Amino acid sequence: MRKLAAGNWKMNGLTAQLPEVTALIAAHPSPSCDVLLCPPSTLVAAMASTAAGRIAVGGQDCHPKASGAHTGDISAAMLKDAGASYVILGHSERRADHGEGDALVRAKAEAAWVAGLIAIICVGETEAERDAGKTLAVIGTQLAGSVPDGASSANTVIAYEPVWAIGTGRTPTLPEIAEVHADIRARLTARFGADAAGFRLLYGGSVRQSNAAEIFALPNVDGALVGGASLKASDFGAIVAALSAA
Ligand code: 13P
Repeated sequence: MRKLAAGNWKMNGLTAQLPEVTALIAAHPSPSCDVLLCPPSTLVAAMASTAAGRIAVGGQDCHPKASGAHTGDISAAMLKDAGASYVILGHSERRADHGEGDALVRAKAEAAWVAGLIAIICVGETEAERDAGKTLAVIGTQLAGSVPDGASSANTVIAYEPVWAIGTGRTPTLPEIAEVHADIRARLTARFGADAAGFRLLYGGSVRQSNAAEIFALPNVDGALVGGASLKASDFGAIVAALSAA
């Protein structure tokens, strides 16, 4: 399995930030992991052109329909046409800001595959859910509802992002991360059999240069989904290097 260092720029980035991509590629010309950046949709085409296939580019959301009267939305085919090969789906910020539920995320993943995109499906508990001891149950429900039956290691990546760890500088303990990733792997195995071993399971939430290596050393952690530390080539490059060395 090729591990995956994925960056989510969220609602950050203008054309003036594209030199970060050039700098990242120059500093890490042949990493031994896959590298992906997901900029805002306005930058997908320009970033894909800048990256010239040296790193992958992805979207941060897509509509479940291929086209039609959906003002402001973007289809998976449009992302693909602009040069994307991945799309993040069901990020907790979309679940919270836009009321996205598991059924919608599942429909989006199926739309992503039709367009030839790899779906990165995000799951994660809130702090209240963790405090109540519901973490594994919440994630199990999200996986069951958000991951379509057609998922495979080739078309789907799972990202575990505890909501309370996103942008806060806080992370679960290493055993807590390992516990969740082992549980996700077990649930995928129960559903998809031997292919489950090939699904890439990303951890996301306050991944930094300082904690990347210890997180990447955990079993069933096959990469990261990085927000704030993906915006600068120097910060993200250090995480790429840590994953390459893992
Ligand atoms: P931070 O790395 O900024 O905590 O964000 C994580 C995230 O939400 C990536 O999708």
